[in-house]
Amino acid sequence: MGLTSDEIIINGGRPLRGRIEVRGAKNLAPKAMVAALLGKTPSTLRNVPNVSDIRVVAGLLALHGVLITRGEDPGEWRFDPSNVEVAHHADIDAHAGSSRIPILFCGPLLHRLGEAFIPDLGGCRIGDRPIDFHLDALRKFGAVVEKLPSGISLTAPDGLHGANIELPYPSVGATEQVLLTSVLAKGQTELRNAAIEPEIIDLICILQKMGAIITVEPNRVIFVEGVEELRGYDHHAIFDRNEVASWASAALATGGDVFVGGAQQEEMMTFLNVFRKVGGDFEVRDDGIRFWHPGGELKPVTIETDVHPGFMTDWQQPLVVALTQAQGVSTIHETVYENRFGFTDALNKMGADIQVFKDGLHDEQRRVNRREFEQAAVIAGPTPLSGAEIEVPDLRGGFSYLIAGLTAEGQTKVTNLGIISRGYENFIEKLRQLGADFIFEG
Ligand code: EPU
Repeated sequence: MGLTSDEIIINGGRPLRGRIEVRGAKNLAPKAMVAALLGKTPSTLRNVPNVSDIRVVAGLLALHGVLITRGEDPGEWRFDPSNVEVAHHADIDAHAGSSRIPILFCGPLLHRLGEAFIPDLGGCRIGDRPIDFHLDALRKFGAVVEKLPSGISLTAPDGLHGANIELPYPSVGATEQVLLTSVLAKGQTELRNAAIEPEIIDLICILQKMGAIITVEPNRVIFVEGVEELRGYDHHAIFDRNEVASWASAALATGGDVFVGGAQQEEMMTFLNVFRKVGGDFEVRDDGIRFWHPGGELKPVTIETDVHPGFMTDWQQPLVVALTQAQGVSTIHETVYENRFGFTDALNKMGADIQVFKDGLHDEQRRVNRREFEQAAVIAGPTPLSGAEIEVPDLRGGFSYLIAGLTAEGQTKVTNLGIISRGYENFIEKLRQLGADFIFEG
């Protein structure tokens, strides 16, 4: 067949059926690994997924002298930060462009070493993704930030002290930056307009286990009382709710029935409501959630992506594919990123009818015009999809292409698959477990 390891050919039209497991969240585990730098004693993280961000962060930790060992369970990692040391810029630079997590090393390295060097960041190209909130916050803690052609160099000549910070937007990464920096800063930190995603609450739980004093107050305020030192933690990472939503959407779009082990209800409530409104059904059990298409027509929905507890931006792309099969017109407003509908071009090539409006749509029902770059996608269905050759543009868009291929009549070749493994552990094996018909030679 002559496929590269970065390509898959999917024979569509077969419903996904069976059981798969999700493990720890890609958007928590790497940050928990960074937190291990703050402890005087070793930390153990369990339920760690095998995704590429983990390998990038493990590489950076090792460069800084953290001893990493693996437990018998492949998801168990141990980090011993007893000998943290300055790493060579050239070695750090080898990680440039591979992930956005390195920006979170700033606070912990400044505490441990008095200096930090952060390579150019990577991550999905879904908008500008600036780091101004991070750098502004670090300066308020007393860091001196110097931008170099190769990355960012930081020092803290007088140590780091508590700060009063109000984020312009409840950014997940900037909130984590403030948490990881404030816990050992001298004095108190008040963070207003903080993100409160479940992964952030899980990070707060980890820091509390380490000895931090963090209070989550009403109205997105987080209050941190700096402590002198922290110890290691032992923690089981929260499940990956983005992966759960992705497989649920795949079950719905293909008319299938998928039990997602490890999924829990509380963190998925907003998604579950939408899933039900679209016409999907689900059953919550102690060990996971079963998602299925109960037959009959799917219904259109209007959704606005938002910060927690709203409908996550990371859930929209997989759901869009299911909405191409709904009877009527659905609208999705993307309010978190300025460029997250590029993936719809390929779906249109496969037969979908999706129009993207660059400025968003006027709608009396909408709450606030929160961000300048709002956009809307209007999806008219149902449209049968037919096979095509499509190239993965970003992580979530990529998974939605797999769903499109599984839903379409005929063969779909999806290229640039490597991006999907940034956030979906063993997805080829999981597709196999769910009875998908495909050719993969990787
Ligand atoms: N922003 C700024 N300045 C900053 C930081 C953020 O303008 O300094 C803007 C961003 O450009 C974006 C918005 O604020 O438009 C939200 O960004 P946020 O900082 O909340 O996102 P993040 O921390 O970079 C994490 C996840 C994303 C997820 C978002 C929103 C990780 C590693 N990434 O990104 O996950 O979409 O929060 O929940 O945790 C994904 O999993 O596919 C993914 C992209």
